[in-house]
Amino acid sequence: MTAIPTVDIIDALAAEYADQSPSEILALALNQEGEIALSFSGAEDVVLIDMASHLGKPFRVFSLDTGRLHSETYQFIEKVRKHYNIEIEICFPESEAVQTFVKNKGLFSFFEDGHQECCGIRKVQPLRKKLATLDGWITGQRKDQSPGTRDEIPVIQADVGFSGEGKQLIKYNPLANWSSDEVWSYIRMMEVPYNALHEKGFVSIGCEPCTRPVLPNQHEREGRWWWEEATHKECGLHAGNLKK
Ligand code: ADX
Ligand code: SF4
Repeated sequence: MTAIPTVDIIDALAAEYADQSPSEILALALNQEGEIALSFSGAEDVVLIDMASHLGKPFRVFSLDTGRLHSETYQFIEKVRKHYNIEIEICFPESEAVQTFVKNKGLFSFFEDGHQECCGIRKVQPLRKKLATLDGWITGQRKDQSPGTRDEIPVIQADVGFSGEGKQLIKYNPLANWSSDEVWSYIRMMEVPYNALHEKGFVSIGCEPCTRPVLPNQHEREGRWWWEEATHKECGLHAGNLKK
């Protein structure tokens, strides 16, 4: 086990691991002292669960259930739980916050005034609560997922959005440098289970009302919050990616 790095050595670690494979970055994360967990969205980030299971180290997984996921995604999360024989910690939003929000603004207000408020209640608050119990988290973010916001993400970073007072949270993005092609080659080669939505034209997968399939050669991010500008397409989980 290696100690949780302080903020000044995280950048050096990121430079050292910049060209390492996802599996090596994942191994570093799982070897880190403290509580580290993998955040699984129910999409192709399943490759991280597969890689972790091959590393043979114990690992934790959590998913944020916004209450608005596709039924295929719920089925897939359950499939992954059984396939890898792992626990998946499901995080729910605060029921009162959701009730008040829906009472005041209805079920589809994000189409009128943007996704930030709904994502704030259904995703960001539950994530904040979970991360308060952790020292680090592992995400499936990749540079090629969102040219407007993710083109510069490092493989390891100090989490600027969720680090609390006196606590430096570390964020690992082992797939940062992988392309969608590489992820899908891995899925096929290793016979990794995948979300059935991928067979229906979906590439990037989020909540049901805010995700749609994309056409051939359309960028995957165009299937998310399509009514908003590309440079704003972060829901707050990775708000640090938004350029000033
Ligand atoms: S999002 O911020 O736009 O919704 P995206 O769908 O690209 O994120 O997924 C990038 C990574 O964010 C995922 O690989 C995962 O680590 C994390 N993530 C996104 N949504 C969830 C979720 N519902 N539960 C857990 N982690 C998630
Ligand atoms: Fe709400 Fe859409 Fe954000 Fe899901 S993606 S939390 S439905 S705004």
